[in-house]
Amino acid sequence: RCALVRRLLVGSLAITLSGASCLAQSPQNWEGDTTEARFVDNLLQKMTLEEKLGQMSQIPLNQKEDVSPDERILKGQVGSFLFITDAKEINRLQHLAVEKGRLHIPLIFGFDVIHGFRTIYPVPLALAASWDPAQAEEAQRMAAKEASAVGINWTFAPMVDIARDPRWGRIMEGAGEDPYLGSQMAAAQIRGFQGDKIGSPEHILACVKHFAGYGAAVGGRDYDSSSISDEELWNIYLPPFEAAVRAGSGSLMSAYMDLNGVPATGNRFLLHDVLREKWKFDGFVVSDWESVKSLTTHGFASGPQDAAVRAVNAGVDMEMTSHVFRDELAAAVKQGLVQQSTIDEAVRRILTAKYRLGLFTSPYVASSRAETELVTPEQRQSARKAAERSAVLLRNEGRLLPLSKSLTSIAVIGPLADSQADITGSWSLATHPADAVTVFEGIRKRFPSGTTINWAKGVEIERVQPSIFDPQYPSPKPVLKTDAERDAEFAHAIDLIKQSQVAVLVLGEAQTMSGERASRSTLTLPGRQQQLLEAAVATGKPIVLVLLNGRPLDITWASEHVPAILDAWYPGTEGGNAVADLLFGDANPGGKLPVSWPRSVGQVPIFYARTLTQIPNALDTRYWDGSSAPLYPFGYGLSYTTFKMDDLKTESISVKAGSKLAVSIELQNTGGAAGDQVVQLYTHQRSGTASRPTRELKAFRRVSLKPGEKQTVTFALDTNDLGFWSPQTHRWSIEPGPFDLWVGADSSATQHTTFTVLP
Ligand code: IFM
Repeated sequence: RCALVRRLLVGSLAITLSGASCLAQSPQNWEGDTTEARFVDNLLQKMTLEEKLGQMSQIPLNQKEDVSPDERILKGQVGSFLFITDAKEINRLQHLAVEKGRLHIPLIFGFDVIHGFRTIYPVPLALAASWDPAQAEEAQRMAAKEASAVGINWTFAPMVDIARDPRWGRIMEGAGEDPYLGSQMAAAQIRGFQGDKIGSPEHILACVKHFAGYGAAVGGRDYDSSSISDEELWNIYLPPFEAAVRAGSGSLMSAYMDLNGVPATGNRFLLHDVLREKWKFDGFVVSDWESVKSLTTHGFASGPQDAAVRAVNAGVDMEMTSHVFRDELAAAVKQGLVQQSTIDEAVRRILTAKYRLGLFTSPYVASSRAETELVTPEQRQSARKAAERSAVLLRNEGRLLPLSKSLTSIAVIGPLADSQADITGSWSLATHPADAVTVFEGIRKRFPSGTTINWAKGVEIERVQPSIFDPQYPSPKPVLKTDAERDAEFAHAIDLIKQSQVAVLVLGEAQTMSGERASRSTLTLPGRQQQLLEAAVATGKPIVLVLLNGRPLDITWASEHVPAILDAWYPGTEGGNAVADLLFGDANPGGKLPVSWPRSVGQVPIFYARTLTQIPNALDTRYWDGSSAPLYPFGYGLSYTTFKMDDLKTESISVKAGSKLAVSIELQNTGGAAGDQVVQLYTHQRSGTASRPTRELKAFRRVSLKPGEKQTVTFALDTNDLGFWSPQTHRWSIEPGPFDLWVGADSSATQHTTFTVLP
């Protein structure tokens, strides 16, 4: 086949593959050896140290350096690019590497495909609120399909950091507070991105991040240190990473912050002892953005060379954006500070990933894909379904929702009601905001021209500065309005509400108010949105509050005064259509909170899996000036129908450690609409070598039932999931003894039984 001259038409670029270059791209022709390990070893033997360090370097295209990216490719000084989303440019750079590079080693192109690429899906916290791992898997499969259509091979996702503090801006990127739900979502997303195995067509390499403990940043302040006990690390923060590794994540990203004083990017305990030795991870590790160089900023490394040495010796294989590996490691090897074998091992892992992705045989993307596979009707349909399944109905007094389809006047009010940029949320880097459907547009489209759909902002929310990772959103301009103009805007919105039969207020956070570098010290509705809401309620008209948000917000006032509250999170490109479907009953909310919803910022950090201590009855009154119970518990969410659960049974009263126990409950849809209930199973270990949380989620299932329909929901409770790492024994084990078990519709479930785990 190498004798043939192949012409690939890649956009306007005609690429001729022949002779030696064809040999380089065909593992089966590499000295006749087809096995992955031999192929990679053969290649490794031919590489200079400089070329090896090149493979360990990832740069953004626009990095300002004396040497151009093209030259770096030709000299073998780069192995990967990030943030390039144009298929032609990707093919052009790949062509340089594969055709003109000395060893013809393909590049790997990475990008933050966090919740969609051009078509944006609900943010990961929202996908977790679907309580449907299959839904999260599908969303990431579709995201991978779109990203791969422009030649992206690798996503920096999923983020599986457990987060119990909604002040932290990146809570929106993960699955919330719970290690069990987080582990299920982690594994599902890996399957979605990678398919059955790395290299599956239309899939991309996953990168589980940020290892480890980033979500525990002190005070919720992004990039701050994390201080986590061993008990919490093993039982809460590490399990989703382990689940992602077991699901086959091809790469992993080290975190920015220090964990108990040791920066994660130079943390050999995490990157070697846990990841390689204990979990046998065989993918490669990439640092976070400049986090290798930053080891000096931490006051950990003494300078650039020391930073490079510490990171590589700890277990980082590829450096993102800073270039101390490239600049410093050759001398460090010569000085004996780093073993040659450490470098070889890092490069071996990177080349293996490229091999598994099929980049040596198919380095290019066909240009036709980018033209036909982005924002397709299929993508839109899938994104709409995901948004519908992720929304959580928090309140529905007097069954205000669903709204009648025969309304003749509706006011759609709020600064987020018709903002295409805001509805997709953070990390929507490659989307075109014009593709997004706003809530106003979604509602407007459903009604004939005779119906009056009034829209007004009411108030402005000042947008905070965009993330440096969001180049497509220009710096927000300050809103220059006089007080009189602002008052007029406010009054106009209230007038429209008075003229309408019902008002839908779309409030929450602008796109850049959640995400990286978007932590907050308050949880209130930003700007004058709360005043707008209160004035809207004062009109006496029926008010529906639709929240667009990346974190729980302080809506305690609304929870008492606004009859209907639907949390749509940042629902993505099709968000407006999905919200309209939900408001008018063409879809029934079935999402549940993946986080405990605080009453005020003073309650955070907040989570349901607390331990009982001396005064158990005071669990909810640990503050003298207010409740310590959340406003809405973990797992909570309403529906337009009602459900009944009874007859909780276990197949026996005891179970041997390591075996499974069948648990069943009868679920019935007792209302008048088809709907979904998430049946949740919680346990509590009554005694042991350590106090265990009052409740821990151990199984769940989202079930769809027609009106009147009944179903026996059965779980095979795996006693392995009851094990934990004990701070007394310093090991993981299932401790025999009595357990409580609850099944219900949220973490305050009341159906209760007990069982005993036998040795
Ligand atoms: O993937 C991200 C990471 O989560 C935060 N820092 C930048 C990386 C690349 O964009």
